[in-house]
Amino acid sequence: ISRVTTRTLQKIRDRGKTISMLTAYDYPTAAILDEAGIDILLVGDSLAMVVQGHETTLSVTMDQMLYHAEMVGRAARRAMVVVDLPFPEGQLSILRSVECGARVLKETNCHAVKLEGGAEQAERIETMVTAGIPVMAHVGLRPQNVHVEGGYRVKREVETLVADAVAAEKAGAFAVLVECVSVEVGMAITEAVKVPTIGIGAGPSTTGQVLVTNDLVGLTSGYSPKFVRKMADVTVTLRETATKYREAIAEGSFPGEAESF
Ligand code: KIV
Ligand code: NA
Repeated sequence: ISRVTTRTLQKIRDRGKTISMLTAYDYPTAAILDEAGIDILLVGDSLAMVVQGHETTLSVTMDQMLYHAEMVGRAARRAMVVVDLPFPEGQLSILRSVECGARVLKETNCHAVKLEGGAEQAERIETMVTAGIPVMAHVGLRPQNVHVEGGYRVKREVETLVADAVAAEKAGAFAVLVECVSVEVGMAITEAVKVPTIGIGAGPSTTGQVLVTNDLVGLTSGYSPKFVRKMADVTVTLRETATKYREAIAEGSFPGEAESF
């Protein structure tokens, strides 16, 4: 099996095909998603919320991202693995972002970084790509901006959002992730750029789709955004299994002969 690369993704878009992307934070999950043929695995800073239990993505550190990136990079055989630059590594000096991107490429088996922002990040993206670090841009709703924005909201300003995507492409981004925008914006961005677009809550027109795996499989507690399709309920499976285990211990049926020496 050959590795999905920036080139593969561009070919997929050029041929009018689609791209699948999911988040992964650990070895076993990444191995399963890779076997399932998911094209891109994202070590998302969403791990602050779905793994660490924080309210926002802001608290996760670069060292923690690398810790998870290392596990996912070790598991993925076919998928390209993209790692989020956590807050504020994509907002401090450009040199700092280059150093973080270099750590991803040197210390993990991952292949690219994702960076929130569009037009205002053009110079940073260009410097990183020039340095040999593939960059996926992230426009539309930017979770790292939650406190400035005063919450999470659907983005509808088509001109600015298209300008962000175009600037990111011009700066050398190999793909543009588009989060939580109207169907019209998702389509306008995809028409305005030649690189693949990956949507999350961006309608059906983007080249590909991404979801947080925990949302997809129902391994979260509480609020679930409108754009999520929960295709399985791991929470119920896990709770029922743990209950069965507890009951088996209580009634003395575990361990049985088969599990004993
Ligand atoms: O961190 C994350 O999970 C993301 C999403 C857009 C998938 O960036
Ligand atoms: Na993210």
